[in-house]
Amino acid sequence: MIVVYKSNTGYTEQYAKMLARKLDVPAYSLDRVPDCHLHRDAVFLGWLFAGSIVGYKKAAKKYALKAVCGVGMSPPMPELVEGLRAKMKVPAKVPVFYLQGGFDMNKLSGPFKLVMKAKCKEIAQRLSLRAELSPEEQATYRMTQGEASAVDEANLAEVLAYLR
Ligand SMILES: Cc1cc2nc3c(=O)[nH]c(=O)nc-3n(C[C@H](O)[C@H](O)[C@H](O)COP(=O)(O)O)c2cc1C
Repeated sequence: MIVVYKSNTGYTEQYAKMLARKLDVPAYSLDRVPDCHLHRDAVFLGWLFAGSIVGYKKAAKKYALKAVCGVGMSPPMPELVEGLRAKMKVPAKVPVFYLQGGFDMNKLSGPFKLVMKAKCKEIAQRLSLRAELSPEEQATYRMTQGEASAVDEANLAEVLAYLR
């Protein structure tokens, strides 16, 4: 078993490395997996881009995926996981997990920055109308204000329980 990940600004990589350490297996970026692991067991973690798990399709072709994790800035919501499964066409036998990652506007450039400036404003407005926010929603709100991370080993408990 190995951990394979696709990360844009580093938060997914942090989760991948934590998970690999816990499982006592190596972690590799999707573009740098040694060929000897081709078609072998792997867990895949990819960052969320407009509701898609980046890198999933390529990872699913190259490895026997035992679990898939999407890492995004949204608070975890039960319907999120099934939405990701449907969008990415993840087979029913492969469990999908959602992990709340982090966000850093300053690590983005060009079109991503432009899109996310508008998106963050929209999310912040929506959350600010709410009387109360859960700790996860508060983390998302902080992300929309520039930079924040919800990366936490505790969030891996469910994935670890499944894999062990
Ligand atoms: C262009 C763009 C689109 C994004 N779309 C989503 C999304 O659909 N859902 C979500 O929860 N997070 C979304 N995010 C937030 C990232 O998935 C989140 O910041 C993630 O932790 C980034 O991981 P990374 O540091 O490994 O790249 C988006 C970020 C960018 C830059």
